[in-house]
Amino acid sequence: MVQKTGNNKIILIQGSLNPNSKTAVILDEVVIILKEKNITYEVIDLRKLKLEFCNGRDLKDYNEDLQNAYKLMESANGYIIGMPVYCYSVSGVLKNFLDITCSAMENKVTGIVCNAGGVMSYLASADLMKILSYEVHALTVQPTVYAYGNDFKDGQIANEKVLHKARTMVERLMDIVKHN
Ligand SMILES: Cc1cc2nc3c(=O)[nH]c(=O)nc-3n(C[C@H](O)[C@H](O)[C@H](O)COP(=O)(O)O)c2cc1C
Repeated sequence: MVQKTGNNKIILIQGSLNPNSKTAVILDEVVIILKEKNITYEVIDLRKLKLEFCNGRDLKDYNEDLQNAYKLMESANGYIIGMPVYCYSVSGVLKNFLDITCSAMENKVTGIVCNAGGVMSYLASADLMKILSYEVHALTVQPTVYAYGNDFKDGQIANEKVLHKARTMVERLMDIVKHN
């Protein structure tokens, strides 16, 4: 394993289409942490992309937004995926996006930010871990950052533990990215 310096790039994937997304609020906090640590990053916010449904066609037959997202993901060393929990699992929109693009993540490293309405949906993030592990052999670091309704107040994170976990997740992710 080679220690790389400097040029590692992390892609954040914001997987909610809600204009008032709480997943996006947490990812904004993750961006602050990445900036503090001088880590190069780019954000793919699914609200800003023209999305299409996956039907198994070649990547070149999807629109420019999806092809550009794929290229950006291919250029990265690691990912932080913000997943809203829908029906105790990964939301359909995010799953569909990953169906089209996840081969860009082959053998790389990911961190998960999982946002739900209730406290009981923590294990929904295990579905995303499983998808990444089986489909593209991508390793997921722990801790998974989990937040739910009560962790927010006035549109901001009100629970310090969520921010602490986000910081630890970024540190673990970068430890592996640097040696991968
Ligand atoms: C279709 C749908 C299904 C949902 N299913 C769950 C669920 O199974 N468990 C849960 O805790 N919250 C569930 N929620 C609540 C969302 O996880 C919650 O609204 C969260 O804030 C979504 O993330 P976002 O704000 O970034 O869109 C569901 C919401 C929707 C719209």
